[in-house]
Amino acid sequence: MNYRHAYHAGNFADVIKHLILIDLLYLLERKEAPFCYIDTHAGRGYYDLQSEQSNKTNEYTHGIEKIIQQPNPPVLVQRYLDCIHKINNQLTHSHYASLRYYPGSPLIAKQVIRPQDKIIACELQPDEYQALKNTFAGDKQMAVHHTDGFLGLKAFLPPKERRGLILIDPPYEDTNEFIRLAQTLPAALKRFETGIYAIWYPLKDKKSAEQFYQSLKKTISQPILAVELTIYPDLPNHLNGSGMVIINPPWHFNDNLASLLPWLWKALTINQQGEYRSFALN
Ligand SMILES: C[S@@+](CC[C@H](N)C(=O)[O-])C[C@H]1O[C@@H](n2cnc3c(N)ncnc32)[C@H](O)[C@@H]1O
Repeated sequence: MNYRHAYHAGNFADVIKHLILIDLLYLLERKEAPFCYIDTHAGRGYYDLQSEQSNKTNEYTHGIEKIIQQPNPPVLVQRYLDCIHKINNQLTHSHYASLRYYPGSPLIAKQVIRPQDKIIACELQPDEYQALKNTFAGDKQMAVHHTDGFLGLKAFLPPKERRGLILIDPPYEDTNEFIRLAQTLPAALKRFETGIYAIWYPLKDKKSAEQFYQSLKKTISQPILAVELTIYPDLPNHLNGSGMVIINPPWHFNDNLASLLPWLWKALTINQQGEYRSFALN
């Protein structure tokens, strides 16, 4: 396990992933009943954009930094920016909204959930787990586990609340991750068939994504929506874009995307390259 998210925090792929995460959480909040958010690959909680790792790649300058500079962002983007500003204000003990830290998925979710909701976060890498544990020390809404996220799915599904969102965000250090996902998801859905599952994946070559879609179509009967955003052309061995597969997408999820995707692509594209699309897989 060599992957460290600190090199990538706040990049264009984080931006779309976290916008979709916030959208799904708000859609769950249309009902008063509590829900559980499960983050299978949670990371360390937040990332210092002035760290050595972040400075080495500067990926955030093509992601969150561009978004912050856009005039008149749509409502969903404004909610996301509010989360980022709030966390920066808390961590820097200042009311001046700067961009020093970038929150990871569990800390973003923590800003959005209500007192009746819960978060279960899994992280396998020991240092990242320890940092995550420290971030949420004493927080009764959060359960942080030092465990394999795929095994966590077995252990934590179905959640006691019987309503929930599961974010699956593996590092894809090797291509087996797609196979592991395709094997794990049907079992997870068997345990919790009405859950909303949001799975992030890289768009490096079109073939891997296409094979992933085919394997999901074969084994999953629930509705599946795929969302793709690319900002580069089809370059070989390069992160040209990223996708999210949403299983059991909530009512109206697609409506918000219809205005978000063109706005995001315009804000993030490199020289008008790449494209965006969302489509049903089944
Ligand atoms: C892409 S990062 C997560 C980013 C985070 N979800 C966010 O959006 O801010 C993937 C994380 O998964 C961790 N990881 C790798 N293999 C894992 C596994 N089998 N189970 C749980 N965590 C794992 C890595 O250490 C890394 O922190």
